[in-house]
Amino acid sequence: MNYRYSPIQRTLKRIYRKFNPVPKSPWTAGHVDDICAVNLVPPQKLVDFFKDCLARLKEIKGNEVGDYFEFGVFNGNSIGSMYLAREAMGLKSTRLFGFDAFQGLPPGAEKEDAGVDKAGFSTCSFEQMQQCLLRRNVNSNEITWVKGWYNETLNDETVRKLNLRKIGLVFIDCDTYSSSKAVLDFLEPLITEPVILCFDDWKLYDLDIKGEGEYRSFNEFLESNPQFEAEEIKSYNRKSRTFLVKPRK
Ligand SMILES: C[S@@+](CC[C@H](N)C(=O)[O-])C[C@H]1O[C@@H](n2cnc3c(N)ncnc32)[C@H](O)[C@@H]1O
Repeated sequence: MNYRYSPIQRTLKRIYRKFNPVPKSPWTAGHVDDICAVNLVPPQKLVDFFKDCLARLKEIKGNEVGDYFEFGVFNGNSIGSMYLAREAMGLKSTRLFGFDAFQGLPPGAEKEDAGVDKAGFSTCSFEQMQQCLLRRNVNSNEITWVKGWYNETLNDETVRKLNLRKIGLVFIDCDTYSSSKAVLDFLEPLITEPVILCFDDWKLYDLDIKGEGEYRSFNEFLESNPQFEAEEIKSYNRKSRTFLVKPRK
């Protein structure tokens, strides 16, 4: 089972997007006056989306919905929205984890995904991100930060140290094929119950039509892990896609 497009679907999507292009990120690099004001997705839209996801998980699993993992934090817009959604839903037992090197896209990013990205795109330092969260009354000390490149941090030692065992919701927003593949490989043994996986950049620069990016990593993941089934659920915008993933019975 996978979410690959047939040749006809790909052609139709190409034609449709010629007239209705998928919106691009408003900022990736260069000078910006206020990095906290760069909202890649309207914050309230994300709060509402996360609340819906948490309500869905609550229906399936009860109050212990599991933890939130975010891969790609940047200025904290999405993880801050999740923090506020968790507060609103009163789900204090859901721990929040943010994984990021805080140095933008990794070296070599321009060599994959048809060259649409560049190393250093979307750089926001850890300290700047904390300031942005403070402006939204989000206490960054209540979030566990895993700082570093994924090829150095996504390993068994991190699983052990942080006692990662029950996942609820995962926000994958690290743009490239290789980063999202590293994330999915890391998550595979941890998916022992239903989880929601959000892919923020599924259609970024038409990477799905090109067979690259998150489209490629998630389809490869499903193909090499037939023990999981995936059902698409409503996402928060046109660029992203969201799935409920469950181990098969
Ligand atoms: C598009 S931004 C995330 C946007 C954020 N979710 C928001 O709401 O604004 C992508 C982030 O992924 C991080 N990233 C991408 N690949 C990574 C890797 N291999 N290791 C660590 N961080 C990575 C970058 O540092 C950057 O902060």
